Amino acid sequence: MKKNSKLLLVTGGCGFIGSNFIRKVLLSDEYSVINLDNLTYAGNVNNLSSLQGNKSYEFIRGDIGDNELVKSVLGRYQPQAIINFAAESHVDRSINAPQIFIDTNIIGTFNLLEMARHYWDDLPESMKESFLFLHVSTDEVYGSLADNELPFKESNKYFPNSPYAASKASSDHFVRAFNATYGLPTITTNCSNNYGPYQFPEKLIPLIINNALNGNTLPIYGDGLQVRDWLYVGDHVDAISIILKKGKTGDVYNIGGSNEITNIDLVSMVCNVLDALKPLSNSKSYFEQVKFVSDRPGHDRRYAIDASKIKDDFGWQPGETIETGINKTVKWYLDNTAWLDEIISGDYKAWVKSQYN
Ligand code: NAD
Ligand code: TYD
Repeated sequence: MKKNSKLLLVTGGCGFIGSNFIRKVLLSDEYSVINLDNLTYAGNVNNLSSLQGNKSYEFIRGDIGDNELVKSVLGRYQPQAIINFAAESHVDRSINAPQIFIDTNIIGTFNLLEMARHYWDDLPESMKESFLFLHVSTDEVYGSLADNELPFKESNKYFPNSPYAASKASSDHFVRAFNATYGLPTITTNCSNNYGPYQFPEKLIPLIINNALNGNTLPIYGDGLQVRDWLYVGDHVDAISIILKKGKTGDVYNIGGSNEITNIDLVSMVCNVLDALKPLSNSKSYFEQVKFVSDRPGHDRRYAIDASKIKDDFGWQPGETIETGINKTVKWYLDNTAWLDEIISGDYKAWVKSQYN
């Protein structure tokens, strides 16, 4: 590890957002990163292949729920912050098989907090003050908004509706409790739906791109009028970097793109970009592949984030509009078909079969 840089322990760094975060923070000499990830189906070491040989980066394969391992990693490397991205993150999988969401998102996060607390307790005063446990969470903990309701603020009550959202809500409560009870310096961020490079193609946008390119149907749950507030992943990781530097411990920050759009309009936008960048030989639009399918049980109707706190406190705002972000994203998937092909050749096939047949 590089001397004089700030050492971060990042968990879940081989996933979508974690890998985007690590690549971005290592662009400067300010940080070094230890990445602890147990490589579930969603974790992919190839997401960080560009860091091979980078002296500021080290990967450790392991589970956040393994207390001996976490304890030894903390003792050996002495990080100045932990950024917890590790989670099971897909709502549909949480409906089909919720247990692993309890194991990782609740018990795993609890274990990480517990090990962090003991580590922090024993730190010298000089390091103690600057230590931070940053927990990356979701807007889904707040539940579903009616059309006429205001976007989620940090003070909104929690109303989780899926096993995924309930498990994240539980982890958020433990983070809060460790701050209130033990004084552990924590911050929680609750972000809206992310999209961008390296997202696993079970989530809506990469699933649509992948299915469109392979001539498969584009499955839209229910009436397709559910609303999400989309944020480009690069903007999310910028927000996390700012909070890492300037965030107030004990606080919560909502992060969102102020890009509310229905699923069907979003899919139409993705198809239009594909039509322009990779037109079908029969001159039809990819949108003709859309198929309405059974709705997701407990499907939240609308999410929207009020990000005024992070904007007012730190001047953060998204750099991408939904149009520029979708353009970049579609282009990335077209330029990285090898990355996509490797994923869809494995267990992915079994998931698609069980979910969509
Ligand atoms: P992801 O599913 O792409 O990646 C999760 C990563 O965590 C994978 O690399 C996986 O191998 C790793 N992991 C899972 N269980 C682990 C364990 N027990 N120990 C160590 N590593 C483990 O998820 P993502 O989309 O990158 O999301 C990252 C975080 O951000 C999650 O906590 C998620 O709840 C939150 N979040 C995601 C979104 C989104 O739209 N994707 C939005 C808001 C918040
Ligand atoms: P998703 O990407 O799974 O994120 P989340 O459930 O965390 O919001 O889904 C985004 C929206 O797209 C959500 O309303 C469900 C919908 N959706 C479909 O209509 N079809 C699909 O095949 C998938 C995966 C999602």
